[in-house]
Amino acid sequence: MATAKLGLIGGGVMGEALLSCLVQQDVYLPSEILVSDPQQERRDFLAQKYGVQVTTDNYLVVKSTTEALLLAVKPQAFDSVVSELEDRQEVITTLPLLISIMAGVPLQKLEAVFPGQPVVRVMPNTPAIVGVGMSAITLGKNIQPLHQQLATRILASVGEVLEVPESLMDAVTAVSGSGPGYVTIFIESLTDGGVCAGLPRAMAYQLALQTVLGTTVLLQKSGMHPAQLKDQVTSPGGTTIAGIAELEGAAFRSAIIEAVLAAKERAQELGNS
Ligand SMILES: NC(=O)c1ccc[n+]([C@@H]2O[C@H](COP(=O)([O-])OP(=O)(O)OC[C@H]3O[C@@H](n4cnc5c(N)ncnc54)[C@H](OP(=O)(O)O)[C@@H]3O)[C@@H](O)[C@H]2O)c1
Repeated sequence: MATAKLGLIGGGVMGEALLSCLVQQDVYLPSEILVSDPQQERRDFLAQKYGVQVTTDNYLVVKSTTEALLLAVKPQAFDSVVSELEDRQEVITTLPLLISIMAGVPLQKLEAVFPGQPVVRVMPNTPAIVGVGMSAITLGKNIQPLHQQLATRILASVGEVLEVPESLMDAVTAVSGSGPGYVTIFIESLTDGGVCAGLPRAMAYQLALQTVLGTTVLLQKSGMHPAQLKDQVTSPGGTTIAGIAELEGAAFRSAIIEAVLAAKERAQELGNS
């Protein structure tokens, strides 16, 4: 039987993001990773592109994984994964480390299915695809320091990692999970504004995209508070303060705050359904 240090159940968008960064950064060799996915085409693609081992058999993945098992299926597919393992208690109760990235599936549910096992719940976000993701992690009750270190090492391959209590996961989902959706709308609007002001679209898009990236990197590297940078770029009677006055008039800040609260409420609803 195959053995693997890392088992990945679900070789979709997020699963691929993780395995691609883990291989690129030599956290695991391709031959140390075993991926299960139901689609032949997907398995062939992952095996060919990354050189990982592939299977359709989730029991095999769980049984042969020695270090960490990544659960990267959609939450709706969780029950079907569990049903494949249910009558095989020996694997359910001998997991190395389970890292679940399924949105909205609480630790309590994971720990009920895998009693006594070390489980970590993670909320990643889409920029993980290019290695600049933001992952919030919550540690289960059976996690030891070595598990925590390993989970952090695995998730750090796709970006920053922040440990949070599980009670904050819905708020995290509303900020960093849904955040790429809000930011893309801002970038699109800034581009449209440029077009409105007479720029060709491609030019406006390049300006908008690089401005958002540059501002983020500047804030990150300088450690400046956003308000401090805003004050620096607003000269008296100048262009930027004229634009900001319009944003304030349109309740831009309040709209973002309300968006985050609505997303948190929706995350709570989905978690309870
Ligand atoms: N994408 C994001 O930005 C993001 C952010 C935060 C959290 N997440 C979480 O990450 C997880 C994965 O999301 P994703 O966007 O990567 O979804 P995805 O692209 O649909 O990937 C899930 C993969 O799992 C496969 N799968 C389905 N049933 C399976 C089974 N029984 N055993 C093994 N594999 C199975 C799917 O195959 P089929 O296509 O054939 O069903 C698919 O290839 C989700 O739980 C989501 O909540 C995603």
